[in-house]
This record gives sequence, C-alpha cells and structure tokens, in this order.
Amino acid sequence: MRILEVTNNGDPSNMEMLIHLKEIFHQQLPKMPKEYIVRLVFDRKHHSIVLTKKGVPIGGITYRPFVEQKFGEIAFCAVASNSQVQGYGSRLMNELKMVAIREDLSHFHTYADNYAIGYFAKHGFTKNLTMSRDRWFNYVKDYDGGTHMECYVHPTVPYMK
Ligand code: ACO
Repeated sequence: MRILEVTNNGDPSNMEMLIHLKEIFHQQLPKMPKEYIVRLVFDRKHHSIVLTKKGVPIGGITYRPFVEQKFGEIAFCAVASNSQVQGYGSRLMNELKMVAIREDLSHFHTYADNYAIGYFAKHGFTKNLTMSRDRWFNYVKDYDGGTHMECYVHPTVPYMK
C-alpha cells in the first residue's frame, strides 16, 4: 500500500496512475460527465493523492490548491467499490490534510454528493462555511445537487498518526 502525490507533469508513470484514477472516478461518480473528469484529472493546476495496492490505484482525491487564497477545492474523491469501507478513504483524506499543512492551505472546500456527506462530516467538513466569502467566492465551482462543505485544517494536528 502506498500513497502518492501525482500531477500531470509529463512523467509516463504519473500518466498511468491518472488514467487508472479517472476510471475509478468515472465508475464511482456516475453523475459526473466523463469528459469533465478527464479534463480536471489531467489539468496541471489540479493535483491528486493516489492510494495504490500492488502498484495499482484503488482510490484517490483530486484537488486544486488556490495557494494565494490558502485553501484547496476537492473536485473528486473516490475509492474503488471492492476496497470501500476499509479505511482507505480516511487514509486519503488524512494524507491530503498533511499536504495542506505543508502547502500552507488552511481549509478545503468541496461539493459533496448526498451519499458522501457522512464521510466528509467524519473528516471535519461542515455545511457551515466559516471562511470569509471573498476568499472562496468565484474560485469554488458551484455544482447542482451537491452540498457545499468546508473543512478547517489545523496546522499542528498530525492527521496521519
Ligand atoms: N456515509 C457516512 N459515513 C461514511 C460514508 C458514507 N457514505 N462513507 C464512509 N463513511 C465513514 C466510515 O464509516 C468511516 O467512519 P469510522 O472511521 O468512524 O469507521 C469513515 O467515514 C471513513 O471510512 P472509509 O472506510 O475510510 O471510507 P471509504 O474507503 O469507503 O471511502 C468514499 C469513502 C470515498 C466516500 C467511498 O465510499 C466512495 O468512493 N464512494 C463513492 C464515491 C463518492 O461518493 N465519492 C464522494 C463524492 S463527492 C466528491 O467527490 C467531492
């Protein structure tokens, strides 16, 4: 089991990881248009945290850091169906929070699917948005049918422990 930080930087092994990851997103997020998933996963402004088993991705989170605004927007988060409910979603989120601390991001925003609200809530996301609106408005993409949630990342919490 490994957790990798992957971006589309031209490295063929990264491309291979991202190709697997976009398939997981496509299967697990059937309401999302496939072209949209492909566009964001391969967009160089987006980064992905990928969890692999025997070298093959079994889940991941794709997010976009807004460095000046000091927050990240989670675009997609999914674990392959035969690997769900085994703690992998938590490992991914905890790793993402450690990356956020390193990159000096204080918050994450996301639009959670109804089914996933419980998962995000477990990880400290709330529907109550505490960040000042001018920091995220015009940055976070609005999705119909999703619930806008926010999470504060405490800079001294060791999320991976
Ligand atoms: N509702 C309530 N609680 C949940 C849910 C849920 N849907 N899923 C997980 N949890 C809880 C678990 O009980 C666990 O709590 P615990 O630590 O107290 O036991 C905790 O959240 C973490 O569970 P994991 O086993 O780590 O989660 P998993 O590996 O199954 O990953 C995920 C969760 C990513 C939501 C997975 O179920 C999935 O891929 N679902 C389908 C795709 C999806 O809905 N993705 C989110 C869409 S929104 C977006 O992408 C922005």
